[in-house]
Amino acid sequence: MTEEHFKKIISHSKEFGFIFPSSEIYDGLSATYDYGQNGVELKNNIKKYWWRSMVQMHENIVGIDAAIFMHPNTWKASGHIDAFNDPLIDNKDSKKRYRADVLIEDHILKIENKINKEIQKAKKRFGEEFNEKTFIQTNQNVLRRQKNIDSITKKMENAFNSDDLNSIYELIVELEIICPVSGTKNWTSVKQFNLMFQTELGSVSGESASIFLRPETAQGIFVNYLNVQKTGRKKIPFGIAQIGKAFRNEIIARQFIFRMREFEQMEMQFFISPGTQEKWYNHWKENRMNWHKSLGIAEESLRFHDHIKLAHYADAACDIEFKYPFGFKELEGIHSRTDFDLKQHENLSKKKLRYFDPEKNESYIPYVIETSIGLDRMFLALLSHSLKEEELKDGTFRTVLSLPYSLAPTKAAILPLVKKDGLSEKAKVIFNSLKAIFNCSYDEKDSIGKRYRRNDALGTPFCITVDYETSKDNSVTVRERDSMSQERIKIDELSKFIDSKVNMNLLF
Ligand code: GAP
Repeated sequence: MTEEHFKKIISHSKEFGFIFPSSEIYDGLSATYDYGQNGVELKNNIKKYWWRSMVQMHENIVGIDAAIFMHPNTWKASGHIDAFNDPLIDNKDSKKRYRADVLIEDHILKIENKINKEIQKAKKRFGEEFNEKTFIQTNQNVLRRQKNIDSITKKMENAFNSDDLNSIYELIVELEIICPVSGTKNWTSVKQFNLMFQTELGSVSGESASIFLRPETAQGIFVNYLNVQKTGRKKIPFGIAQIGKAFRNEIIARQFIFRMREFEQMEMQFFISPGTQEKWYNHWKENRMNWHKSLGIAEESLRFHDHIKLAHYADAACDIEFKYPFGFKELEGIHSRTDFDLKQHENLSKKKLRYFDPEKNESYIPYVIETSIGLDRMFLALLSHSLKEEELKDGTFRTVLSLPYSLAPTKAAILPLVKKDGLSEKAKVIFNSLKAIFNCSYDEKDSIGKRYRRNDALGTPFCITVDYETSKDNSVTVRERDSMSQERIKIDELSKFIDSKVNMNLLF
């Protein structure tokens, strides 16, 4: 996947009503996007699949929908007021600001790419006899580069774990990292910057009335955990899931919908007894990776990445990374959050947040494993994975969005071959009979070939064409998106046929 593929995703998203730049008539607002008529359908389908997988399919997980505004003490307790910072560094020549850790990670990525090139070159040279494992273990260039990566990683780990901003600055200087814009190494020192948006509640300004837009949905779950546990008569282990907006004043908001200031998270907190966190951390790692694979995302486009710098609340953490057109980046986080959040809320609120475990006959503050996925990043991952330019047998090309059928915005397009001779009327009857069951579209404009192409680009799994034979045999031509094969199907059997292909249950 390349820069070119990324540009294609952005232009395709706009052209086909998936994503528009926000407030475009006013020249947009940086890093803010609106989901269009097809984007909202795809987004809703992703949410639905996540919700069904996490809530409906687990008898011990329930969902909530907490308010975005929370008592300001929530953020004091969670550590976000004191520690939700990014280490930033400015280039004095370009005046551009960067996250210091991202600059170092990008440098590591460049070395990794060199290793991969070396491997690919050797693979070509040795053909079938090539043994990748042995090559990595013995090739001097690879070994030297890997040693370099290990040493940078170690230095970075030490600097971040001890909050030593000066050492981070020195590492950037030592690695001779240059600003991609100015090309110079003229850096300022590294400083911390809080990412929360602050506003005033009501008309009174002043510290007591300051509130924050939530930077994560998780805290709405923590403060409600006992409400849910008691009213739902839940026994540990149990989980609470939530989908909702989160806000972060990201300094370098870029890469389309990958990093935005307003975005959506799908989070689940799994409450467990202390001491079982390793088991459940591994359980959720595997479960979440399988969820991504169930959507047909290629194994080589997904990987785990262990955190070097642990967040203030975690004793273990990793990301599931997806290979976006701009490289492997975080798609989802899995965090072992210990009892940090509940303990902090108990201390500050002075309310007991303990769980009485009838099996152990004791009270304790539960430990928590969290799975947290960015909905917008999942959306971008699906677009990156699905958008293809395909060469057909006749040498022509088609653009196809090969989304999993059950996530496609529109499941079937109903198309009269021509507008006249009663075909439109017949097609509308079919549309009306299917619209309550599936999200369908009706289209009679342009040639049938053009309408097929348009629906390929929208990811529509089935095109249903009403032609002159329809009134004779009560059948329609059904064209499948991926194979482009066509078959005649009786109108009465359409809904059963479509359901057998697009039902979300097929993903489980
Ligand atoms: N409750 C834990 C938490 O919020 P995080 O790793 O900071 O953890 C979780 O965020 C997920 O939210 C990320 O894996 C990413 O998918 C998404 N995310 C975070 N910041 C984002 C941003 N600025 N724009 C879009 N998605 C973002």
